[in-house]
Amino acid sequence: MILLVTGGAGFIGSNFIRHVLAARPGDQVVNLDALTYAGNLENLVGVEKDPRYSFVRADITDKAQVNAVFKAHKFDAVVHFAAESHVDRSIHLGPEAFIRTNILGTQFLVSAALEHRVARFLQVSTDEVYGSVEGEGRFTELTPVQPNNPYAATKAGSDFIVRAAFKAHGLDAVTTRCSNNFGPYQFPEKLIPLMIANALEDKPLPVYGDGMQVRDWIFVEDHCRAVDLVLRKGRAGEVYNIGAMHDVPNLDVVRLILRHLGKPESLIKFVNDRPGHDRRYAIDARKIRGELGWTPAYSFDQALKTTIEWYLANRQWWERIRSGEYRSYYQRMYANR
Ligand code: NAD
Ligand code: DAU
Repeated sequence: MILLVTGGAGFIGSNFIRHVLAARPGDQVVNLDALTYAGNLENLVGVEKDPRYSFVRADITDKAQVNAVFKAHKFDAVVHFAAESHVDRSIHLGPEAFIRTNILGTQFLVSAALEHRVARFLQVSTDEVYGSVEGEGRFTELTPVQPNNPYAATKAGSDFIVRAAFKAHGLDAVTTRCSNNFGPYQFPEKLIPLMIANALEDKPLPVYGDGMQVRDWIFVEDHCRAVDLVLRKGRAGEVYNIGAMHDVPNLDVVRLILRHLGKPESLIKFVNDRPGHDRRYAIDARKIRGELGWTPAYSFDQALKTTIEWYLANRQWWERIRSGEYRSYYQRMYANR
């Protein structure tokens, strides 16, 4: 297959491209990414030399740019990761960029996929569209969509755009809704990489509120395998939840990181809570397990250890992000081609 992967310079997209190139020798990948603050081509070092891989810098909110990419290739499928992805930014910087990229950008991709008769469109979504689940409950694919922050609201909007294109125009679309990912190449604004980097620099670890909010953690490679499976075997028009069903309070995760690194708990600093903070996420992944035979390959403890070791071994990678140096990589590697 020839795949268009959007957002392939981000955390999950770059892991997905690595997965596809390794696991699917017959596939080609075109990575379309605008290189926002979250896009980093250093996530793809090594991959760039693969003849089955190419990169196009384009913005999905620019209709002409999107159409030009679809005209230049005959895509068999679109795997749509590109998004503004950070909840805190959507609250504190405002929703405009989220509305443009997550909603308008998704519509432009969907329209181009229809016009160019792309055989499959995979919408990468999130469990956050369901809002917060109380008690011992878990999100199923039938749980009502009740987003509680601007990021989640725009992801819900993009899911509905994809659904509408399936219903009204016959787009062959599938949607995945995954829980919290962690692993190599995650931008150090998200909980796990931020806490690892701060601990390594003996900086305070900011825990929101009482730290008892629960997130359901999955190693990024397990998510990528699931997306790949839904892409090839999922039923058109369906939503598939993805999660390893390992839901734990944030404070436990932060303490585990400190313990792994041999750092003191006195680094933990309780700070003001996130406005509208969802209390608990927990995925029911029985549909993808039963229908497509997917299961996570990694335990949380094993994957967290692997992740911490990766951030230790790749200190330069996250230091270049924290200093802003990573933004010059594109200029050096691509701008003059
Ligand atoms: P990320 O922020 O690391 O990467 C997003 C990528 O999209 C970046 O490379 C960025 O440059 C690109 N991008 C942003 N706006 C763009 C635009 N207008 N045009 C083209 N490219 C643009 O995000 P991530 O954590 O890798 O998440 C990827 C996808 O997975 C998102 O759709 C997110 O909603 C979804 N998701 C994430 C998680 C998680 O835990 N991180 C869980 C479930 C679902
Ligand atoms: O559930 C899937 C979602 O997971 C994805 O859709 C989002 O793109 C992704 O960013 C993530 O959203 P969260 O808001 O759950 O992730 P984040 O890493 O920002 O926060 C995880 C939890 O940790 C959350 O309860 C807030 C808390 N937190 C986060 C940060 C950054 C802190 O306590 N301190 C922090 O500094």
